[in-house]
Amino acid sequence: MDIALFSPSSLFADPDDSSSEEQHESETPQSYAERTHRFPGMDLIIREFSFHQLNANLLWPGTFAFAEWLVQHRTWIEGRRIIELGSGTGALAIFLQKSFSLDITTSDYDDLEIEENIAHNCKINGITPVLPHIRHSWGDTFPVGEPHWDLVIASDILLYVKQYQKLITSLCSLLKNYKPTDDRTDVKETSQKAGSHVRFPRPAFLMSWRRRIRKEDESLFFNGCADAGLEVEHISSRVYCIKPRD
Ligand SMILES: C[S@@+](CC[C@H](N)C(=O)[O-])C[C@H]1O[C@@H](n2cnc3c(N)ncnc32)[C@H](O)[C@@H]1O
Repeated sequence: MDIALFSPSSLFADPDDSSSEEQHESETPQSYAERTHRFPGMDLIIREFSFHQLNANLLWPGTFAFAEWLVQHRTWIEGRRIIELGSGTGALAIFLQKSFSLDITTSDYDDLEIEENIAHNCKINGITPVLPHIRHSWGDTFPVGEPHWDLVIASDILLYVKQYQKLITSLCSLLKNYKPTDDRTDVKETSQKAGSHVRFPRPAFLMSWRRRIRKEDESLFFNGCADAGLEVEHISSRVYCIKPRD
């Protein structure tokens, strides 16, 4: 597996803050590299590129641990309609589609470069037509008024403390406006967590996150979720389940 490198200086960049460093870097022509990454049961070729102000250019290492966790908890995802937030290169969605034939939509910041890279990665890994993609910057009006995804997933998207409120707005939009397109609403599933049963309802948000920022900053996200009427459950060392409070 190639280790995805990233620029720590851009980790916490605020997209609203157009610093001279960002302007300089974004004017530099992109260079692209296709790398082979090992996922459970398969290798994927993922094209990464030299710079993106929100780090969508590289496949983050936490993705592999989340992929492994999802394989071990496949009953949580099978049969779900899934949307991924902050898809970046699209690698996780591509892996899930190829492994489980899931109905999965990618999404990321409203940016053509990201969308085109995900489409490229779908094609070089044999997914045609490419996965549906939604360009959505958190906090903007979600382009689908009645979202039908019963599972939202994301990996490593809590780096941007200044974006938390916008992210929570988008999450609420997806989870609270969820409109099933069939009779799935009443389905309740259970999964084991340290011997107890965790209700895993539709819709829910399943997020993988390994803390790289101060705990006080991270807690702004979890407290913000609680204030917005979302219930947060810490499922395993790096996996969280977030759902609308009953
Ligand atoms: C650290 S990268 C992780 C990418 C991918 N999930 C992975 O693990 O390889 C964070 C992702 O969140 C996206 N993101 C950050 N801020 C965003 C915003 N305001 N709206 C939408 N997406 C955003 C970035 O574009 C990027 O793809």
